[in-house]
This record gives sequence, structure tokens and C-alpha cells, in this order.
Amino acid sequence: HTLYIPRDTTALSLGSDKVANIIQHLADKNNLPLHIVRNGSRGLYWLEPMIEIQTERGRVAYGPVKADDVEDFIESLCWQENEGHPLYLGLTEEIPYLKKQQRLTFSRVGIIDPLCIDDYCEHGGFLGLKQALLDSAQQIVSTVTDSGLRGRGGAAFPTGIKWQTVLNASADQKYIVCNADEGDSGTYADRMIMESDPFCLLEGMIIAGLAVGATVGFIYLREEYPLAHEVLNKAIELATNENYLGKNIQGSSKEFTIEVRLGVRAYICGEETALMESIEGKRGMVRAKPPLPAINGLWQKPTVINNVISLASVPIILAKGANYYQDFGMGRSRGTLPFQLAGNIKQAGLVELAFGPSLHSLLKDFGGGTRTGKPIKSVQVGGPLGAYLPESQWHTALDYEAFTSINAVLGHGGIVAFDNSVDMAEQARFSMEFCAEESCGKCTPCRIGSTRGIEVIDKILSTNKDSALFEENFTLLEDLCETMTYGSLCAMGGMTPFPVMSALKYFPEDFISSHKV
Ligand code: NAI
Ligand code: SF4
Repeated sequence: HTLYIPRDTTALSLGSDKVANIIQHLADKNNLPLHIVRNGSRGLYWLEPMIEIQTERGRVAYGPVKADDVEDFIESLCWQENEGHPLYLGLTEEIPYLKKQQRLTFSRVGIIDPLCIDDYCEHGGFLGLKQALLDSAQQIVSTVTDSGLRGRGGAAFPTGIKWQTVLNASADQKYIVCNADEGDSGTYADRMIMESDPFCLLEGMIIAGLAVGATVGFIYLREEYPLAHEVLNKAIELATNENYLGKNIQGSSKEFTIEVRLGVRAYICGEETALMESIEGKRGMVRAKPPLPAINGLWQKPTVINNVISLASVPIILAKGANYYQDFGMGRSRGTLPFQLAGNIKQAGLVELAFGPSLHSLLKDFGGGTRTGKPIKSVQVGGPLGAYLPESQWHTALDYEAFTSINAVLGHGGIVAFDNSVDMAEQARFSMEFCAEESCGKCTPCRIGSTRGIEVIDKILSTNKDSALFEENFTLLEDLCETMTYGSLCAMGGMTPFPVMSALKYFPEDFISSHKV
């Protein structure tokens, strides 16, 4: 019998280790040969711990299997497929939530044993690297450019153009930096890749190194991800032993090494220049751009900085070709984005789809509405600096340009839902508070503006809506947001107005109804 029991952070937090231990104990007691694979999660988080059993028909899923019920569960199953079992979910691949997805970057996530190189290779792993070792540096960069891949961290800058800039720069040393400081609220796609398919990220980084002539890579990892840290370090060790990292990679003349550096629990260290300062051992302060990191990055050397998902999307592009990837998506948003459903949502989880579906379909068809059963009032897309959107905007296609046109961002694909008990004025205040808390302090609009922003919102909330002061503070808040948007040095101060202004625009009644006078 082969069983799959996830070991990603979410599954663990829901008791999957305990479930695995009890099952192993039962098998030992009954002298039953059992092979438990600790896979990553499929990303259907409301069903975790989701156990899969290998049958002749394929993998069959049950979930959520709670530690307290596991003994009864196994007894009623007798280790066989049992369609009548209340936790029976059928063939995993046929679960609609999964079946309707287009998993390219996440094609192996939840399927393989994350730390088994053979399993990785059997599922298409290292085919991209093999191709890259045959290609010239320029060919690799051109393939990535032609695929249309854009930065998945949030800024959506074309990855191929970034790589081209680094390739064209001449220097004695260049670096690849993976931004794994996943700080956006409601996001976990980076973590899932690192915990569930770590070789895919390593492969993407090695390819990036071959493409631009860099021999050293760093993964700047969010410190709050201890499991990802453990898995990545182990994966680096295994890949080095198998000669995918180090000198003479797979018999070639190429070399590449990767080191994990831990972050410092500061949101701003996810900003690329503050991140580089942090790796260099300094306080995470934002650097003025230009010079761009691609020219003058880590230790002043040309540096590619890409998000985890951007890098993890590269192997499939090299393995299957630019056209294959480019065929997914719409407009200038090519390929897929892993949307992450979170907040007050019934079926929270990862949904990888080609760009283009509507928020409506994600929230209803995948998310199934709110967990509380109340109507969804507002959705924040793209992290704490993203806009709050009411139902009237949910028809907008999930595409970078379509979102820009409604003054919103797709960001890193995080989607946080709120039911109708949310007070949007409080959320707007929270955005300013968040900025005041996380600001690096380098520029005035962000450092001072965010604190003044909290005060102005408080004034609005404590003033009678018919008084002249109420109107005055409304205008003041709008002015302040404009100053922050155009006067801030980086996205932290520059984007905080998105959630504030969207709350004001779409939910003005919350600013009025909650006034205390
Ligand atoms: P940006 O627009 O300044 O830069 C985008 C990227 O392109 C940078 O790496 C920049 O160095 C590079 N670039 C620009 N022109 C280039 C050229 N000619 N050649 C080579 N490279 C070039 O945006 P920024 O400030 O890096 O990121 C802001 C975004 O970050 C926001 O849109 C937000 O959504 C996102 N974000 C994501 C978070 C997460 O947890 N994933 C957290 C906070 C913000
Ligand atoms: Fe620092 Fe804020 Fe200015 Fe960014 S906008 S440089 S976080 S003070």
C-alpha cells in the first residue's frame, strides 16, 4: 500500500504529522507493508490533511482526515478504496477544483516527494536545464523573452528583458537572487513551491545563472518559513551531490552554487534594493533607482532579482519552448498565475490558471463564497498594497493591464475576501497603519504621510458628516494619498493609497456610518 500524506506547513498545522504517525502505527500493528510518501499539498487547503491512496485506477483522495478520527477512518477503509466513505473525494485528478486548473508551474506540487530527485526527474524535472545546457546564453534569454513571462512578484516587468540587461553587462561576478520574502497578505504560492517542489526553484535559478553568466545564487527566504528553510537546504545538498549544482554541472564546463539567506521579518526587505542591503548585512533600507540592480546590484555587481514563481516558471519554458507557455493567457499577460484564495472564503487554496478569468469565477466557482455564509462585501487583490474591490468590479479579467485600468493590481496573486461584517474605514486605517509600521523611513511622503494618514482618517471617523470639517478632511486625505503616490521612493509608500482610495471610492458609507458624533 502506498499512501500520500502532505507535509507542507498548512497540512502540518492541521495535524498531518500526527495522522501519518497513527497510520504507520496501525500498519505496524497489523504487519501490513506500508509506504507513506510525505508529498506537498495539492493546495486544496480546506481539505487538509488530505490523504491519497494509490489504487489501480490512480490516486484516490480522502479529506479532511483529522488525527482523532484516523483510526476509525483506516478501519472502515480496510486499506481499500471505499466510495461510500464520508470523506471520500474520488480520484484526486478528477476533483473539480483541481481538474479546472491549468497547472504549469505547479504541475508537480502535491504529486511528488519534494526531496526525491528521481521522482522530480520522472515528472519532467531538469529537462529545462538539459535544454539550457545545450543552448547559448543568448538563446536562453531569448526563449524567456519570447515566452512573455513577466515578474510574478507583483511588478510584472518582462523577465527576459531583465535577464538581457544582466547578460549585456560585463563584470567579473554576477548574481542571481531569488526573492522568497513572500510578505503579501494571503499569499503562500512561493512557500508551496519551496516546500513541495524545491528542485524546480533550484533548476530555474541554475538556468538563470547560465543565461546571464552568474555563478552564485542566493535565496532570500522569509524567516517565518522554517520548513521551507529545511527543505531548501536539503534540496541544495541533494542537487549538489547529484552534480546539478557546483562545478562542471552535468559534465559541462558550467558552475553554479546556491545559498539560503534568512530574512529579518520586515516587509520592506521584500523590496529588491532593501533586500540586497539585507543580504549584504546592512539594515534593510531602500536604495534609490537608478542604478538598477541589473546593472549595479548585490555588492555593486549586475544582479538578476526574481520572485520564486518567476524562477520556478522558467524550467517548463525551457523544456517545452516559448510558444507552449505563450499560448496561455490573454493580451500582454502570458502564461499562468497561481491565484491564492484566502481570508473569509469557504474553499481556500491555490488555483493556477492562465490569465483572463474573472474574480467572480474565482470567488464563486473555486472559493464557494464565504466561510461564514454571509455575502462577500469586498476583496483585496495583490497584497496589503492592493485595492479593495466591490462586486461591481469582479467581472474584470485577471490580467495585469485590465487591473491597471481599474486602479488595482494583480500583484503576487493574493486574493483576500471579506464578508459584509467588515468595516472598510477600519481597513483603510489599517493600510496607513501598516505603512507607518513597515516604512523604512527613508522618504518623507511615506514616513510622515502614513502617520498623518492615520490621524486624518481618525478625524473623518469622529466628525459629523454634515460639518465642513468632514469634507475638509476627506479632501486632505485625497491630497495626502496623491503626494504619497507620486512622491514616495518605492512601492511601500507609493501603493498604500491603493487600498485607502479604493475603500473611500467604493465604500464611502463606511466612513460615514461609523462616525462617532
Ligand atoms: P519596479 O516596477 O520598480 O521594478 C520591477 C522590476 O524590474 C525590478 O526588478 C526592476 O529592477 C526591474 N527593471 C525595471 N526596469 C528595468 C530594465 N530596464 N532592465 C532591467 N530590469 C529592470 O517594481 P518594484 O518596486 O520592484 O516592485 C513593486 C511591486 O512589488 C508592486 O507592484 C507590488 O505588487 C509588489 N510587491 C510584492 C510583494 C510580495 O510579497 N510578493 C510585497 C510587496 C510588493
Ligand atoms: Fe522607505 Fe517608504 Fe520611502 Fe519606500 S516609500 S523608501 S519604504 S520610506
